[in-house]
Amino acid sequence: MDNRMEIALIYGSDREGRLCDAIADWTAAQLEQHTDYRLRRIDPIDLPEPQQLREQLAQADGFVVVTPEYNHGYPAPLKALIDSAKAEWQAKPVAFVSYGGLSGGTRAVEQLRQVFAELHAVTLRDGVSFISAWEQFDSGGNLREPARAEGSMMRMLGYLHWWLDALRSARQRKPYKKLAGE
Ligand SMILES: Cc1cc2nc3c(=O)[nH]c(=O)nc-3n(C[C@H](O)[C@H](O)[C@H](O)COP(=O)(O)O)c2cc1C
Repeated sequence: MDNRMEIALIYGSDREGRLCDAIADWTAAQLEQHTDYRLRRIDPIDLPEPQQLREQLAQADGFVVVTPEYNHGYPAPLKALIDSAKAEWQAKPVAFVSYGGLSGGTRAVEQLRQVFAELHAVTLRDGVSFISAWEQFDSGGNLREPARAEGSMMRMLGYLHWWLDALRSARQRKPYKKLAGE
């Protein structure tokens, strides 16, 4: 039986010519170095029908959201994807890989923390952030100077592993339930 934890890698952008592909591919390559994870990509350009999407989110033990920043916020397709499920997010960790201009997408991430709190998901403090992201990747989608981002990713994955493990055990011991009156 495959007892590995499953991570859903969620794409934030559906823009034609998006940088999201390069950043999600880099993120996937980093995650795939860890054999204790199964990875499933969930992409607003290629979403399954709603019931299947919810099933895929339900199967995930945690999420890595790859998000750009658009006008100091997160992209609309990402919000639509998040809003299409509810209990599927609960009591699971969410880590962020963000990108943009000067802020490296961190304003989008801070707003997403509010959204995921409403969904009873646990967002990680540490993430990976690419400032002026388009300058950091070459035309082949490779990072020009990978050391810094790899260091941030290693740190994020250390915490993500702890939360994945802790919350999966907790969910198995006792199903997560909202309190009466909410
Ligand atoms: C309409 C629009 C608004 C943007 N607003 C911001 C912004 O507020 N802050 C920022 O850092 N970058 C901003 N950017 C830059 C994007 O983060 C950057 O173009 C990124 O590559 C977009 O992701 P994508 O290529 O995967 O769609 C904006 C880009 C567009 C097209």
